[in-house]
Amino acid sequence: MEKKTAVIPQSEVERQLAFCDRIAERTAQWEQTPLAAVITYGCQQNEADSERLRGYLARMGYGFTEDLEQARLILINTCAIREHAEQRALGNVGALVHGKRRHPEQLICLCGCMVQQPGMAEKIRQSYRHVDLVFGPQALWRFPEMVWERLRSRGRTFQVEDDPGSIAEGIPVVRQDGIKAWVSIMYGCNNFCSYCIVPYVRGRERSRKPEDILAEIRELVKDGYRDITLLGQNVNSYGKDLAEPMDFAALLEAANAIPGDFLLRFMTSHPKDATHRLFETMARCEKVAPVLHLPFQAGNDRILKAMNRRHTREEYLAKIRDLKSLIPDIVLTSDIIVGFPGETTEEFEDTLKVLEEVRFDALFTFIFSPRAGTPAARMEDPMPRSEKLANFNRLTALQDRISEEKHAAYVGKTVRCLLDLTSEDGAWPLTGRTPGNRLVRIQGDAAAAGQFRNVKITGANKWSLFGELT
Ligand code: SAH
Ligand code: SF4
Ligand code: F3S
Repeated sequence: MEKKTAVIPQSEVERQLAFCDRIAERTAQWEQTPLAAVITYGCQQNEADSERLRGYLARMGYGFTEDLEQARLILINTCAIREHAEQRALGNVGALVHGKRRHPEQLICLCGCMVQQPGMAEKIRQSYRHVDLVFGPQALWRFPEMVWERLRSRGRTFQVEDDPGSIAEGIPVVRQDGIKAWVSIMYGCNNFCSYCIVPYVRGRERSRKPEDILAEIRELVKDGYRDITLLGQNVNSYGKDLAEPMDFAALLEAANAIPGDFLLRFMTSHPKDATHRLFETMARCEKVAPVLHLPFQAGNDRILKAMNRRHTREEYLAKIRDLKSLIPDIVLTSDIIVGFPGETTEEFEDTLKVLEEVRFDALFTFIFSPRAGTPAARMEDPMPRSEKLANFNRLTALQDRISEEKHAAYVGKTVRCLLDLTSEDGAWPLTGRTPGNRLVRIQGDAAAAGQFRNVKITGANKWSLFGELT
C-alpha cells in the first residue's frame, strides 16, 4: 500500500501562530518596528516558501526591508541545485558577520535546500558562528517556534533532521506581487534523476488536498490576481498520495472552472508523466495558458538512461507532436544539461537535433554540476570543462537563432497580453506577457498595468517582443 502523506494537525499550526502572537507582543515593545530582510535563491518553490515565511514574520510584527543594515532579522532562503547557487549563498552569509558585529541583536536565519544537505549544518555550526537559526524546507512550518526559542534563550537552533516532509495548511502568506501568484500544489520529489539533489533535500512527493488548493485560487482571483502558477517538482504525479486520489488533469479542470478572468500555468512537468489526457485537458480549458515547460535534459538515449529520466528521445518527441496537434500555437520551453558525466560531443549533438525538431521558444541551459550524494557525482567525467563550454555555447547560439525566428513571427499580430510592470524606461513604459509568457515591452498608458489588453506587436529580438496598446 502506498504511504499516505502526514498532514500537520490544525492545532499544531495554531500553536505556531500563537508563537507569532507572543513574539508580536514583544516586538510591539521595541523602540522601532523591527524590519526583516528576506533573501531568496533558487526556484519558484523557494519563492513560494519565502512568501509563507514573510507571512509568519508579518504576524510577528516585522515590517520588511531590503537594506541589511536596517534589518533586525535576516532570513536567507538557499538553493543547492548547482554549486554556483551554493557558493553565492554561502558568500553572502559569510559577509553578514560584519553587520552582526555592529548589531549583535540581529537575528540571522538560514533555511532552504542548501542547509538540508548532509554535512552542511555542521559546516555552518563550525564556520558561520554568526548564524543563529538553521532549518531545512521540511521544518519551515515551525519557524515561529524557532524564533521564539531564540529570542528567549539565545542558543543557536538547527532543525535539519532527515524528514520525508508533511503538509501544513493555514500558514499566512505575504505575496511579492499583486498580479501573479504562486500556488504550491505539492512538495518534494520521488524521481531521483541521477544528477539532482532535490529529492534528498525536499523530501518525498506529497500533495495538498484539492479543496485547499482550489480555495486558495478562489481567494486569489477575488483579490485581483490574474496569473496563477501551480507549482510542484513534478506536477503530473499530483494526487497519488491523497486519501481520495485525483490526477493533475482533474485538478487543472477544477481550477479552470473557477469563475473570473485569469490565466492558469503550472510547472514543472516531467515528460514520463505528461500524458495525452493532460494535453487534451490543456486544449479544452480556456484559462490554461498555451504554454508547457517540459524539461528533456539531453537528446541522447544513453545519457537519458544514465540520468535516470525514464523516457527516450523518441518518446519525448512523440509527446511534443501530440501536444502540437492539439494546441498548434503552444509555447514550449525546456531545461537542458550540457556535459553530463561521460556525454561525448557526438551524444551532445543529439540534443541540438531535438532543438531543431521541436523549436522551443526559450530554454534554460545548465552545465552539469556534481552534487555530493547523487549518483552522477560519482560517475567518471573525463570531458574537460573547455569542451563542455564550447558545446554549451553551440547550444545557446542555436537557441538564440530559433528564439529570434519565433519572436519575429509575432510581428504584425495582435495578442491579448497581461500587462504587469511599469518601467522607468520612457520609451517602453509598460511590460506585459503573452499568454505563452513571452515578454513584451509596450508603448502605452502605464495606468493600464494589471489588465488584459490587446497589444499590436511591432518588433522583436531574441529576448523579447515590442508592441503598442491598441
Ligand atoms: N523538477 C524539475 C527541475 C528542477 S531543477 C524537473 O524535473 O524538470 C531545474 C533544472 O536544473 C533541471 O531541470 C536541470 O536541468 C537543472 N539541474 C538539476 N540538477 C543539476 C545539476 N546537478 N547540474 C546542472 N543542472 C542541474
Ligand atoms: Fe530533480 Fe528529477 Fe525531481 Fe526534477 S524530477 S526535481 S530533475 S529529481
Ligand atoms: Fe534550488 Fe531547492 Fe528549488 S535546490 S532549484 S531551491 S527545490
